[in-house]
Amino acid sequence: MLEHQNIKPEPITKDDASWFQPLFKVCFDREELWSQHLGDNKYEAFHIDKQAFIFIYTVEDCTDLLTLGVHPAQRKKGFATALLKWVITKAPKAQRFFLDVECQNIAAIQLYKKIGFEFVSIRKRYYPQFSGPALDAFVMTYQKPLKTLS
Ligand SMILES: CC(C)(COP(=O)(O)OP(=O)(O)OC[C@H]1O[C@@H](n2cnc3c(N)ncnc32)[C@H](O)[C@@H]1OP(=O)(O)O)[C@@H](O)C(=O)NCCC(=O)NCCS
Repeated sequence: MLEHQNIKPEPITKDDASWFQPLFKVCFDREELWSQHLGDNKYEAFHIDKQAFIFIYTVEDCTDLLTLGVHPAQRKKGFATALLKWVITKAPKAQRFFLDVECQNIAAIQLYKKIGFEFVSIRKRYYPQFSGPALDAFVMTYQKPLKTLS
């Protein structure tokens, strides 16, 4: 297991596309579209050891968690937990976090629940599939605990 306290994810830049593209493909088993956003100032992307990545989008005090993946050989070691905890604790302005997760993605749903995310709604038929009907998405949110005033 990773020691979360000692981890400092690094930014992913457009120069990282050569390792990021195959990492995304092996994580999601499909081509990625995210490289075009590397370094565009809209989204922020971070990685740990080129084995795990996250894309986020922050407006004011709300952060959307856009995509998150861990290399299959490195799963269940705490990489995703480390990335999420780091984003939640280090994102300076963000107080509230939102994400969409495919309703059948048990690993991701368990991960988000363990971090403290809660279900807020369902987006019906949100994720198209190559065959079969589109899958629903759960919308989940996490609110940073309010700082106690001293
Ligand atoms: C979902 C994913 C990011 C989890 O990454 P990870 O680094 O393996 O997760 P962690 O090791 O931090 O696991 C933390 C918790 O998540 C849950 N979890 C992780 N993998 C799980 C699995 N296969 N089945 C059930 N729960 C799982 C567990 O609650 C786990 O805690 P535990 O180890 O005490 O049981 C990874 O499986 C992945 O990349 N999947 C493919 C891409 C994807 O679905 N991304 C999310 C899109 S919303």
